[in-house]
Amino acid sequence: MSEKNNLEIRLARSSDMEAVFSLESYWPFAPHWSKPQLEAELSRPGSIFLTAQFLSDIGGYLIGRVFEKEIQILSVSVSPRYPRQGIAASLLEEALASARLKGCARATLEVSERNLPALSLYRKLGFQIVGKRAKFYNDGSSALLMDKLL
Ligand SMILES: CC(C)(COP(=O)(O)OP(=O)(O)OC[C@H]1O[C@@H](n2cnc3c(N)ncnc32)[C@H](O)[C@@H]1OP(=O)(O)O)[C@@H](O)C(=O)NCCC(=O)NCCS
Repeated sequence: MSEKNNLEIRLARSSDMEAVFSLESYWPFAPHWSKPQLEAELSRPGSIFLTAQFLSDIGGYLIGRVFEKEIQILSVSVSPRYPRQGIAASLLEEALASARLKGCARATLEVSERNLPALSLYRKLGFQIVGKRAKFYNDGSSALLMDKLL
């Protein structure tokens, strides 16, 4: 789908799922989907499931779902080996471009108020905070609802 500086963003494949699952399990802020849930997402109608191939490794992934004219970003994680290489930003840009082509007018997501790297990432990509669910997560933190017009 897109390729620059050793980074290729492409549709996720079944053979990526082991690497995706280990990233998904590694990060406390990831939603912690099971392997069967990840596999099911590959063929789910409306799913935008991307992986980032970085230096012949799976450097990160993104899962979004298109519903009517909206894409909801459900999960974005990047390998702890490759921080601040632009992998998450590239995954998001590709997902948003793909959603635009499918007729989406808005992107939405939820993020913990304590997840400062992700908040900074989403702000940089043009998302704005539009709501809050108090004490939504198990650690007592609130969920911030963010959106961006496409
Ligand atoms: C948040 C996360 C996805 C960022 O991935 P990344 O590939 O390192 O991010 P990028 O290199 O694309 O960074 C883009 C911007 O995000 C922000 N950012 C990323 N990591 C940051 C950090 N540790 N601290 C502050 N800002 C950060 C910056 O604005 C950055 O731009 P800059 O490098 O030009 O300053 C990654 O740290 C991660 O996987 N975290 C754990 C999982 C998670 O929390 N996912 C989100 C909720 S599901």
